[in-house]
Amino acid sequence: MTQKVTLIATAAMGIEAFVAREVKALGYENVQTENGRVVFEAPVSAIPRANLWLRTADRVKLLVGRFKAYSFDELFEQTKALPWEEFITEEGEFPVVGKSVKSKLYSVPDCQSIVKKAVVERLKKKYGVASILKETGAFHRIEVAIHKDEVLLTMDTSGSGLHKRGYRVGQGEAPLKETLAAALIQTTNWYPDQPFVDPFCGSGTIAIEAALIGQNIAPGFNREFSSENWHFISSSDWERAFEEAEDHANYDQPLDITGSDISHDMIQIAKSNAMEAGLGDLIQWKQMQVKDFHPKKDNGYLVANPPYGERMGDKPEVEEMYRDLGVIMRDYPSWSVYILTSNESFESLYGKEATKKRKLFNGFIKTDYYQYFGKHVK
Ligand SMILES: C[S@@+](CC[C@H](N)C(=O)[O-])C[C@H]1O[C@@H](n2cnc3c(N)ncnc32)[C@H](O)[C@@H]1O
Repeated sequence: MTQKVTLIATAAMGIEAFVAREVKALGYENVQTENGRVVFEAPVSAIPRANLWLRTADRVKLLVGRFKAYSFDELFEQTKALPWEEFITEEGEFPVVGKSVKSKLYSVPDCQSIVKKAVVERLKKKYGVASILKETGAFHRIEVAIHKDEVLLTMDTSGSGLHKRGYRVGQGEAPLKETLAAALIQTTNWYPDQPFVDPFCGSGTIAIEAALIGQNIAPGFNREFSSENWHFISSSDWERAFEEAEDHANYDQPLDITGSDISHDMIQIAKSNAMEAGLGDLIQWKQMQVKDFHPKKDNGYLVANPPYGERMGDKPEVEEMYRDLGVIMRDYPSWSVYILTSNESFESLYGKEATKKRKLFNGFIKTDYYQYFGKHVK
């Protein structure tokens, strides 16, 4: 297929601008940022590249059609009019999932079965099949998403969400999503040769994502994608994308990344995750309470997702920890500090107003990302 396709990189609320920046950095144009997604036009070869490289997006979907529908008839006819045969072969398997918000067509099971029927009719006619379609071939998950009567018909090219990099063999109670961790790091001006520390590293997500960014390793390098055997994406497009990822990885980039945590068990988990990510001994892991953190170098970056103290009884201890961190970092003005927490008193506990704040959701928890810019020394 030589013509362009329209792709949708979905994103968590508040992360869209990061995804848009990444899409533009891959060289694609006509990039539109909408709520929860970034829409862009690109050649088919962008499907492998976007899946391999996007660090902050949840999934990459292929847009098949976008139209208004107020009745089941309209939904059926407009779905049937779309060129499904360009994307699904005679043997292709295509389950339909759906969602509907604030729309006349609110019954999701009905919308799903109407879309399924319309695609089946279209493909049977195009392929001259009189009986049933066998659906024994490549897997395509079609989604019908209706919002205020606007229908979006897409096919998921990713499979499992892009946060599943393939390295998480273990986790703690509240792991940060890899996509959010990457966004937290991309907010900073950290260069890979500068010290980088997460003193509440848990299963190591922030430190591992920093190492992948630092060495320019494609986050999807270790996993598979559901569109890998779609007929209209040539295997050479996939091979080229993986080769490009290999060529652009800078395994010689020295890193100075440390993850520490009060829990010995979490450090063991973080170590296994880093091993699985192929990072070997690149990250230094240490069992340590934050109170004992004392940087040895200048111009470092501390990026962390500490406990929020939302559980009953935890709050005083957590607030004490925020105070301790503020006192420690006062002696290291060349360090930049970035803290994600839902605790609205963070700045007063830490003892300093943030240079900048940004609202972000950590799953369903409303948080602020407090950013303190260091005064770099030569
Ligand atoms: C929200 S979790 C961090 C999760 C991590 N970002 C991840 O992706 O797995 C907070 C971590 O802080 C650690 N912690 C709690 N109190 C601490 C302290 N006083 N010093 C250092 N770490 C502490 C906990 O063991 C826990 O792993």
